[in-house]
Amino acid sequence: MNILVIYAHPYDGSFCKGILDTIVPKMEKRGANVKVIDLVKMNFDATMRPEDLKATVTKTYTQEVQQEQKNILWADAIVTICPVWFGSVPGFLKAYFDKVFITGFGYDYTGGLLQNKRVFSLFTFGSKDPYLSLANQYKSIEYLWDNIFSMVGFKDIAVKYFTNVPRTTDEVRAKYLIEAIEFVNQIFDKELGEIGQIGAGELLVKLVIEGKLEMPKVKKI
Ligand SMILES: Cc1cc2nc3c(=O)[nH]c(=O)nc-3n(C[C@H](O)[C@H](O)[C@H](O)COP(=O)(O)O)c2cc1C
Repeated sequence: MNILVIYAHPYDGSFCKGILDTIVPKMEKRGANVKVIDLVKMNFDATMRPEDLKATVTKTYTQEVQQEQKNILWADAIVTICPVWFGSVPGFLKAYFDKVFITGFGYDYTGGLLQNKRVFSLFTFGSKDPYLSLANQYKSIEYLWDNIFSMVGFKDIAVKYFTNVPRTTDEVRAKYLIEAIEFVNQIFDKELGEIGQIGAGELLVKLVIEGKLEMPKVKKI
């Protein structure tokens, strides 16, 4: 089992780093080959440049994107760890998927080119309920993840939320770390497809494949 961990947080003192340091050894202990990529430390270029977008036609990718596409193909499961910023994921994590899953590699107007993969995502929030529900922050994450991962063919999209992280007690944070381990244990304990997708993604892909719904085409450059 190959697991690619995509870590998206700029600060080593963060709770996200605590999650990273907790789950990686646990997944290795369960026999997985784990590769961690730290988007900030590797200085991932989060700008979609003309050559990146042209790759939808040319299929010529920058070296950085090519390397990440290799990582994605290698992985049976992807784990993402990030904070929630303005009701979404940090822009540089979204940019990673924009650039790496680009049309022709991940997205393909049908059911996606990255079949039979799974994503397990852990998100930290500064706020808590009822604010997060009222502000549709969970939904916002789920719509985004559904649109990214179901569109490229992923079978399982699993999300785990940790709320009120900076203000809660150490006891709760310790409990969160146990929950993080239990969450990633599902990679080993649940069959491919058992978790499924979050919402409309599966239905949407089915309608496209059956020719009942036409996906908007990207304008050729
Ligand atoms: C730019 C920015 C935007 C933020 N927006 C939100 C938000 O929309 N919802 C929320 O619950 N917390 C928000 N926060 C707080 C962070 O999510 C929180 O501090 C973080 O998840 C705590 O975990 P960490 O120690 O891993 O960073 C924001 C923080 C920053 C820096």
